[in-house]
Amino acid sequence: MNQIPQDVITEIRNSIDIVDVIDGYVKLNPRGKNFFGLCPFHDDNNASMSVAKDKQIYTCFSCGATGNVFKFIEDIENISFIEAVKRCADITNIKLDIKVNNSKINEKFKNLYDIYEDTTKLYHQILISENGKEAREYLKNRQINDDIINTFRIGLSLKDRLIITKSMSSKYAKSDIIKTGLVKEGDRGLYDSYCNRIMFPLDDINGNIVGFSGRIYNEEDNSKYINTNETDIFKKTETLYNYNRAKNSARRNGYVIVMEGFMDVIRAHTIGYDNCVATMGTAITEFHANLLKKMAKDIYLCFDGDKAGAKATYSCIEKLKTVGVIPKIIRLESDLDPDDFIRKFGKEEFDKKLNNPISVLEFQISYLKKDYDLNNMDDVAIYLRKCVELLNKVDDNILREMMISKICEDTNIKPDIIRAELRPLIKHEEDVSDAEIIKPVIIEPQPIQKGLNKYEKAEINLIYYMLNNKEIIYIYDRRISYMPSYKMRKLAREISGFYHKHGYINVADFMTYASSKKELMESLNVVLNQNLREEFDLNEILDYINVIKEYNINEQIKKIQKDIKNEKDIMKQISLIDKITELIKDREEL
Ligand code: GTP
Ligand code: MN
Repeated sequence: MNQIPQDVITEIRNSIDIVDVIDGYVKLNPRGKNFFGLCPFHDDNNASMSVAKDKQIYTCFSCGATGNVFKFIEDIENISFIEAVKRCADITNIKLDIKVNNSKINEKFKNLYDIYEDTTKLYHQILISENGKEAREYLKNRQINDDIINTFRIGLSLKDRLIITKSMSSKYAKSDIIKTGLVKEGDRGLYDSYCNRIMFPLDDINGNIVGFSGRIYNEEDNSKYINTNETDIFKKTETLYNYNRAKNSARRNGYVIVMEGFMDVIRAHTIGYDNCVATMGTAITEFHANLLKKMAKDIYLCFDGDKAGAKATYSCIEKLKTVGVIPKIIRLESDLDPDDFIRKFGKEEFDKKLNNPISVLEFQISYLKKDYDLNNMDDVAIYLRKCVELLNKVDDNILREMMISKICEDTNIKPDIIRAELRPLIKHEEDVSDAEIIKPVIIEPQPIQKGLNKYEKAEINLIYYMLNNKEIIYIYDRRISYMPSYKMRKLAREISGFYHKHGYINVADFMTYASSKKELMESLNVVLNQNLREEFDLNEILDYINVIKEYNINEQIKKIQKDIKNEKDIMKQISLIDKITELIKDREEL
């Protein structure tokens, strides 16, 4: 259960602005007194999510997701309520003296996670100590400053191969230490696996450290990098370097950049690109492809400028296609990798590259060209056949024509010869007209009241106003206190109860209270999705009350009618009929 006192939770919620928090995940634009953005909880193209600064809640009028800041963090980070509260407390520097279990780790492997975490701290300490002078010098020459060292938690392993062994042996079981791969067992006992390397911690997709990559810096060695061996919690095929840091930035910016090396990702970070990831020096897997697809709408491939990089780009495109993603391609000149490119030409040139990505088709055609000698007629013929094959997969005429003119330039062939080989374009029925495209994408929230009968409408609307005005709670208490449907009855009672207990009402805090009660949250969702005005009109409220009273009277009448049927005593029957007459009179007076 909840180990944090309610008033502390409320204090935390009050010291944080939901607009700032959500804006870190999705770009929000102000409109009226609310903010709007793409809903991260469904595939949204319409900025369906509104965030109310005054109420401190968000509501998606498309998928119905709604909640306060805690609920948002819970759902987007996939963590528990307590963890979400803890995150907010950390952001606002409120001290919370509770132990929060990390729901993102499998308890079975808790020791492994702990050993990697402890080792990261130790390696980092060594790097910033006297012993790390030479390594720091190396990093400095590569323009990696202290900030970056801290952000990426870079560390150093020393030549002394007993440091991790000794330190971890005092705390953890030998079998666990060996399992991490950080320590090996030899003839003369345990010793550290890593020796004299700059250590880059690797996180899993939840941000827990699950391994390292160690780079040489002052000695020759056949392996430039050595990765920790795979374990139950570390799989290279499922790891993307920097994923955790990049995922929010990628979502916010609408694109993620895939690179080949850690150093490229780190360098890009220094010039403000936080949305970059790299594989572990391996080809991209289907798992990676799906992960990338979830990160952002657009995927940019920015691999090394050399031949190997072009080859890797080619196969990555193929892999992404299998999950339905067509990436955009950045090619860097003179065999440079992104790290070299940024250091040599600076941020502005890199920005330009990113602003002018090439299409997959353009990349593939120029990639093909390298294999052929275009002065040789046979080669030209094969090359053109391959080009036609690629062009046939494209349904965009402009793109086709642009590519045709490029190919013709290279080969001195007339465009019609290529055109004659192409299959006709498919006319898409769902092609949208220009008018539709220009139409503003943001739609004003509409009350979703279709399909509700008048009783449902009355109770839902009344509850909506109860959440925003204590006056309506009073009215409810005194004049109704019984909603037609079971779910709304329960919700109304809880709202009234909350008000009487705390002496105030607001949606965001009521949500904190409701968040652990699934049924209550569901009813609340229905209510908040009405998107009503906040100010109420007393006549409207009175109408609702009458409608609800009418419902209650009808229910009573139905019940009495049943009783009459079962009643044998004629006198009692008559008295029941009197009751019905009275109720009907009451109903007419409404
Ligand atoms: P720097 O030389 O430090 O700039 O690294 P880089 O990022 O330019 O690396 P490079 O382009 O040579 O390689 C790209 C990625 O391949 C690296 O980030 C590593 O993940 C991986 N890699 C490179 N060399 C090795 C190696 O010797 N062993 C292993 N296991 N992986 C390597
Ligand atoms: Mn490099």
